Amino acid sequence: MAVQMKGKDILSIHDLTREEVRQILDTAKILKMKNQTGEQFQPLKGKTLGMIFQKSSTRTRISFEVAMWQLGGYALYLNTTDLQLKRGETIADTARVLSRYLDALMIRTYAHQDVLDLAAYSAIPVINGLTDLLHPCQVLADLFTIEEKKGVLTGLKLVYVGDGNNMAHSLMYGGAKVGMNVTICCPPGYTPDPEVIRQAKEDAASSGAVIEIVHEPASAVNNADIIYTDVWASMGQEEEHAERVKIFAPYQVNSALLEKAKADTLVMHCLPAHRGEEITEEVLDDRRSIVFDEAENRLHVQKAILALVI
Ligand code: CP
Ligand code: NVA
Repeated sequence: MAVQMKGKDILSIHDLTREEVRQILDTAKILKMKNQTGEQFQPLKGKTLGMIFQKSSTRTRISFEVAMWQLGGYALYLNTTDLQLKRGETIADTARVLSRYLDALMIRTYAHQDVLDLAAYSAIPVINGLTDLLHPCQVLADLFTIEEKKGVLTGLKLVYVGDGNNMAHSLMYGGAKVGMNVTICCPPGYTPDPEVIRQAKEDAASSGAVIEIVHEPASAVNNADIIYTDVWASMGQEEEHAERVKIFAPYQVNSALLEKAKADTLVMHCLPAHRGEEITEEVLDDRRSIVFDEAENRLHVQKAILALVI
């Protein structure tokens, strides 16, 4: 039976029930099929999404904008430097005002607390388009992509090699929710947030997933169904880039590492990739790499989210 998600905020996969995640993935599958057959589906005629960006974006901005257009609605790009937020208007007042014009809000920013505050004062659903802590829309699209390729999620082993960042956090939450084992393999000083690990393990207890943090890439990828990586320096960490390149060098996803995984292992990356740093050119362009299908699926999964919450 369909779960009612109208009006729901999408801030973290941890907040969603297993049934809600299932509903998003199943809806996305139907919407992707409609796109492929050219069938129109426009439940959001007359509806408007505001998209607040404090950081750069290619995929998130464009896929949300196209998603609203395809669903019959309209998306407004709101750069924080143009909003009165920049001049000291509070998040609470911004939320109250935008709720009078819009039907939903998407936000990409630094502090996760800003997204929580926006949601607390908004009368409309708020969607997290990435914070320093989490990137739920990316991981929902990742789960969709993995299921599309492998036919299942439960029982698979995803090994994330890299920084214990927003992607690592959302992958742990996502895997824990659907019963997919997630291993985070990172340098010792760059482990994920302890509270996120605790909550993901708690969620994993009911789905049967195993969530673990390790530090040796060669042994971590043993039996991996999916190897996942992300940039070593995220947005906002640009000045740490040189130092991180040295520390993370043993964590590069390259052909030698791929050799140690299952023969049919898939390679994923949320993109943008820094070719030659966290992933080699050769691996990113390998037949096992599904990064561009993964990027495409942002559109289908976000259409599902928008159609369900607006
Ligand atoms: N993966 C992702 O969120 O890409 P953008 O930063 O381009 O939106
Ligand atoms: N960890 C990266 C993800 C980009 C989609 C960042 O926050 O910059």
